[in-house]
Amino acid sequence: MVDQTISPSTLSGPPVSRWWGCFPDLRRDTLGFLLQCQAYGDVVKLPMGLVVELLLRQRDAAMYVLNHPADVKHVLVTNQDNYTKAPVAPAESRIFGQGVLHTEGDIHHRQRRLFLPFFHGNHVTAYAGLITDKARELMGRWHDGTRVNIEQEMAHLTLSIIWRLLFGQDVRSESDTIRDAIAAGQRLIKLQYDSLLASIIPLWVPIPRHRRFTRSFRVIEERIFRLIRERRMASEPHDDVLSLLLSATDAEGRPLSDEEIRDELMTFLLAGHETTANALTWTWLLLSQFQSARERLTRELIEVLGDRLPTAADVPRLRYLKMIWNESLRLYPPAWTLHTRLAHTQDRLPSGAVLPPHAWVFVSPWTLHRNPRWFPDPHRFDPERFSEEAQRTRPPFSYIPFGAGGRRCLGESFAELEGLLILATIASAVCLRQVDGQTIQPDPVMTLRPNIPVQMVVQRMRFPTSDPAMT
Ligand code: HEM
Repeated sequence: MVDQTISPSTLSGPPVSRWWGCFPDLRRDTLGFLLQCQAYGDVVKLPMGLVVELLLRQRDAAMYVLNHPADVKHVLVTNQDNYTKAPVAPAESRIFGQGVLHTEGDIHHRQRRLFLPFFHGNHVTAYAGLITDKARELMGRWHDGTRVNIEQEMAHLTLSIIWRLLFGQDVRSESDTIRDAIAAGQRLIKLQYDSLLASIIPLWVPIPRHRRFTRSFRVIEERIFRLIRERRMASEPHDDVLSLLLSATDAEGRPLSDEEIRDELMTFLLAGHETTANALTWTWLLLSQFQSARERLTRELIEVLGDRLPTAADVPRLRYLKMIWNESLRLYPPAWTLHTRLAHTQDRLPSGAVLPPHAWVFVSPWTLHRNPRWFPDPHRFDPERFSEEAQRTRPPFSYIPFGAGGRRCLGESFAELEGLLILATIASAVCLRQVDGQTIQPDPVMTLRPNIPVQMVVQRMRFPTSDPAMT
């Protein structure tokens, strides 16, 4: 890249408030502000303001937004040991506890080693039947002309699948409670990131939003603890994440406690369905808006599947579907930002920028994926960007919907199989048309969600299908 060294004091960024730093701009229009930052170079410095400097007792406290894939690779992979996750909002910490999403060092390595075999290769493809069955079950409740809130439908679908993966049984009445708790959690976490005051009031202070949050998560927790207790007493073997955790031991060879198991299960429950549901929602919306892509997909589905349900073996042949999925994750990455990383020691990046110790490093798939240097006309939906040829022209790490390095998404293979099979199953039988008059914008909460409920109308496909799920 470049030979010169750019010291932290010469790095630039947009003008921000002296007292409050970049936070008012981020709060007002997070996604727009991040895109504006692209104009300031490969590494953009965003001062955090005097108030945060006083609180942290750190002079020149700043966030550094990385816009160059080579720098992203350096921080997430090459020199990843120099970075840890920055402290998270209190509500987020309460939800995920010491689960694999938030731990560091040896504990984190140990947790990943435990989960990796479960979420890889044949073990994942074995769930293909479950995924297509659940998708068909959902369509069984739809009729020609049914109007659906597609985000809600996708969330219930992915929740029913992850619940089976975790607990080996069907989710029952918990489904609505879990979705309500997540909504309360998302609102509180956003508030805590947006407002310094909200983030420093401890969760035990009984204000209404804390009470709502604690009450709703306690219901899920109690259910999880009950399932752990029941399974401890069961004698027959199970192939699910709960059994994996019950047979695991810590570094001293002791079995995991109920609390440790709860943290992992809660992590997978949330990380493992909300993101995939978002990705599916955006994909349905794009397919409804871009008729030619939808038609080409229909042709591919007929050619590869005829009138049967997809299996894991079909997935590599559904090439255009995969291109649509990738392009949807580019435009609307559910994890629109990775967790902010904290630098331990000074580090010189490949772009020449030097990050000081304690730098808060911001890597955002949203910003990277909409950088015109790697993705010309970046706001346009164009699945052709993911043809094999087009992909070869881009630098690695310009597209990172699942993160990278030692903290790369553990559920990536599963999410991809699940997303593609759900799309193929449903798109073979129905068209989903967006209801006219809705202007939908991405809303960056814990995941990148549509800002309003996405209403769609179910239309039966005109070509013959033998799918008995559709009436
Ligand atoms: C389209 C769907 C998904 C997307 C876009 C996604 C994205 C991500 C990203 C970007 C990270 C890294 C965060 C960071 O580095 O700060 C991550 C981590 C993680 N994801 Fe996913 N994810 C998806 C689905 C899933 C599923 C289905 C599961 C589980 C079944 C899952 C489990 C996890 C876990 C446990 C981590 C933490 C890994 C670690 O820190 O070692 N994700 N995900």
